[in-house]
Amino acid sequence: MTIRILQVGLGQWGADWAETVVPQVPEVEAIGWVDQNPEALKRVKRRLGARPDRCFSTFEAALSNIDADAVLVTADVLAHAPLVEFALEGGKHVLVEKPFVVTTAEAERLADLADRYHLTLMVSQNFRFFPAAISAARLVREQVLGPVGAVHIEFRRSLNCTPADESFYAFRQPLLEDLGIHHFDLMRMVLGQEPRQVYCTAWQPQGSSFREPPAAAATIIFDRGTVVTYRGNWLSVGVETPYGGEWHMECGEGEIIWTCRGDRDVTLDGDQVSIRKRGQPLVPIGLPPMASFGRRESLATFARAVQNGTAAPFASLARDNIGSLALMQAAITSAATGRVISVETINSKRPKH
Ligand SMILES: NC(=O)c1ccc[n+]([C@@H]2O[C@H](COP(=O)([O-])OP(=O)(O)OC[C@H]3O[C@@H](n4cnc5c(N)ncnc54)[C@H](O)[C@@H]3O)[C@@H](O)[C@H]2O)c1
Repeated sequence: MTIRILQVGLGQWGADWAETVVPQVPEVEAIGWVDQNPEALKRVKRRLGARPDRCFSTFEAALSNIDADAVLVTADVLAHAPLVEFALEGGKHVLVEKPFVVTTAEAERLADLADRYHLTLMVSQNFRFFPAAISAARLVREQVLGPVGAVHIEFRRSLNCTPADESFYAFRQPLLEDLGIHHFDLMRMVLGQEPRQVYCTAWQPQGSSFREPPAAAATIIFDRGTVVTYRGNWLSVGVETPYGGEWHMECGEGEIIWTCRGDRDVTLDGDQVSIRKRGQPLVPIGLPPMASFGRRESLATFARAVQNGTAAPFASLARDNIGSLALMQAAITSAATGRVISVETINSKRPKH
C-alpha cells in the first residue's frame, strides 16, 4: 500500500523535500501541497507540475479537500505544534521535520495525542539515517573496543551569507536548537544512553551578525557515566567538518573516530568511520551499503511504520525524540543561566535503554 502524503511548508527546505526527496521514495505518493505563502505554492506548481486543485494556502482547506493517509510537516519550527495537532486530530499519521517542537511539554502532549488515536508520529532526524552513524552505534552496542568512557564532538562551519540577510541572522538558537538537535539526538542514538546533566556556554564570535549565539560548548554526563564534550561553531575559521561533526569516542580498548552527513543529505561523501586499537595505527572500516539514506530513508522508514504498525530501531518516534529535545532545552537553559542543568526524565512512558 502506498502512503498518500500531504506536505505542509514549502519554504527553502520544504521545496527541496517536495522536489528531490518525496518523488524518490516508492513507498509514498504526494497528493497535495500547502503553504500560506503564494510564491511558495507557485514554485511547486511550476517545478512539480502540481495541479492547482491539489495546492492550498491553508492546512484546513487541504484536509477538507484531500484524502491523505499522512502529513509531512516541513514548515518552520514555530508552526510545528499546531500543524501536528491538527493533523492528528484529523486522523492522519505525521512525519515532522526537526526540531519536533520547541518545548518538551508540547512534545509530550502531541506524543500522548498520537498514542490516543493509534497514529504514527515520527520526527525526521535525518542524520540518523547515514551509514557512519549507524555503524558507530553498532560498534558501541557490540562493545567492539569496550565501553565508551569519553566522547569529544566538534562541529565547524563558516556560514557564507550576505550580511544584509536580516531574517537569516534573526534565526532562533542557530546552533543549539537548529543544528544542535541533530548532534544531541545522535549522542543518544549512538551511545544508547540518556543524558542526565549538562553545562553549556554559548557565545557570539567576533563579527557575528546573529541575534542569538551561533557558537557553544557543552559538557554532558550520560546515565551510564559517559562524558561528552561538545563544541559547535557556525562562524568557525577552522577546517570545516561535515554537518554531523567530528566524533572521537574513547573506549576501553581504543578509539572510534567518525563523521557523517555531507551537503544537503544527498551524498555519502561526509561519511567515514575509523578505529584505532590502543597503540596501533588508525584503520578505516567499511560502511554498511545503504540504497537510500538521509531524508529518503527517514521518509521510507516512516511509511513502513505506518504500513506495518511497528517502527525500525532507529526511527525517531515522537515519544523517544522527547529525550533529545530535553537535552537541547537543558543546554539552552544552561547557556542562558550559567548553571549546570539536570536533564529531567521528562516522561515516564519513554522507553529506557
Ligand atoms: N534536517 C535538516 O537537515 C534540515 C535542514 C534545513 C531545514 N530543516 C528544517 O525544515 C523545516 C523548514 O525549514 P525551512 O528552512 O524551509 O523554513 P522556511 O522558514 O524557509 O519555510 C517555512 C515555510 O513554511 C510555511 N508555513 C509556516 N507556517 C505555515 C502554516 N501554518 N501553514 C502553511 N504553511 C506554513 C511558510 O510560509 C514557509 O514557506 C524546519 O523545521 C527546519 O528546522 C531541516
